[in-house]
Amino acid sequence: MTRLVTGDELEEDTFETSIRPDSIDEYIGQAELKENLNIFMKAAKMRGEALDHVLLYGPPGLGKTTMAYIIANEMGTNIKTTSGPAIEKSGDLAAVLSTLEPGDVLFIDEIHRIPRFIEEILYSAMEDFKLDIIVGSDSSSRNITIDLPPFTLVGATTRAGDLTGPLRDRFGIVSRLNFYTEDELKDIVLRTSRVLKSPITEEAAYELAKRSRGTPRIANRLFKRVRDFALVMGDGNIDLDITKTALDRLKVDAFGLDATDYNLLNSIIEKFNGGPVGIDALASSIGEEASTIEDVYEPYLLQNGFLKRTSRGRMVTEKAYKYLNKGKQDSLF
Ligand SMILES: Nc1ncnc2c1ncn2[C@@H]1O[C@H](COP(=O)(O)OP(=O)(O)OP(=O)(O)O)[C@@H](O)[C@H]1O
Ligand SMILES: [Mg+2]
Repeated sequence: MTRLVTGDELEEDTFETSIRPDSIDEYIGQAELKENLNIFMKAAKMRGEALDHVLLYGPPGLGKTTMAYIIANEMGTNIKTTSGPAIEKSGDLAAVLSTLEPGDVLFIDEIHRIPRFIEEILYSAMEDFKLDIIVGSDSSSRNITIDLPPFTLVGATTRAGDLTGPLRDRFGIVSRLNFYTEDELKDIVLRTSRVLKSPITEEAAYELAKRSRGTPRIANRLFKRVRDFALVMGDGNIDLDITKTALDRLKVDAFGLDATDYNLLNSIIEKFNGGPVGIDALASSIGEEASTIEDVYEPYLLQNGFLKRTSRGRMVTEKAYKYLNKGKQDSLF
């Protein structure tokens, strides 16, 4: 079953492009990143140069792709997009690089998944705007160097730790996206409500924000679901009552935790005595990939103090024990 509160992109999120902010002023939160980018973009424009390469990292759904598009918009350039897994051969990289015009943004999503030998080609492209590739087959192969226009590589990753040092070092601007505060998420919900022309009360927007795990993608997704409830069960206006009813029915609790979180925390408590437990043992006990736990489930639980990481593994916190007392759990699930 797909999870309603996963930060990962789901099929139903295709409406996202229509509600994506396209200027930096409309981009809510991430104040530090915005301030820095504003200065760097202004300076690059004043010098008539391409913006320095930008690396954005952080959990899924926090606005990395959105920011890449905003950068291109603000710089008044084109954006070409690809992703780590899509670049399998040096020719794949050459193909996209050769379409770039001066100042363009090349957005590489999941940049940590680029094969190592491609990464090396990227070094000189990023540093000297030169593309060194080998053409031809064994007997007649030769090295050629192609000059590239100055461009801005915007790389996005949920796993900055998986990037090699040399690649990371070639980004002039490196920024971690943080979970959003409830107030910021409330503003995002209010903005989405305006864009989609579905009115929501301030307190309902706040309730949605509280249950959205610090993640705009989840806030927007929950908004869309609650909007359906409001339409069918009410007059289309989204108020606090309908929001609470809808989210309870959707089994998203007051902290934005769902059955998967309960399962993860309860497994550690029941099967591992509260931890510490290694990530692999935990993964197999709940039938999930270790990397999914690390990238998607656990960051929010860590951030909110339900889980902590120690050198010996994950441990459930006092807060989680208190929160998971049986009564509460049974009433929701
Ligand atoms: N700062 C923001 N202000 C308003 N809306 C935002 C903001 N950040 C993200 N969103 C909304 O959340 C959605 C998800 O953001 P986005 O696709 O940029 O996330 P991402 O970090 O690229 O995720 P992934 O790691 O899965 O690629 C966007 O469509 C946008 O509508
Ligand atoms: Mg993205």
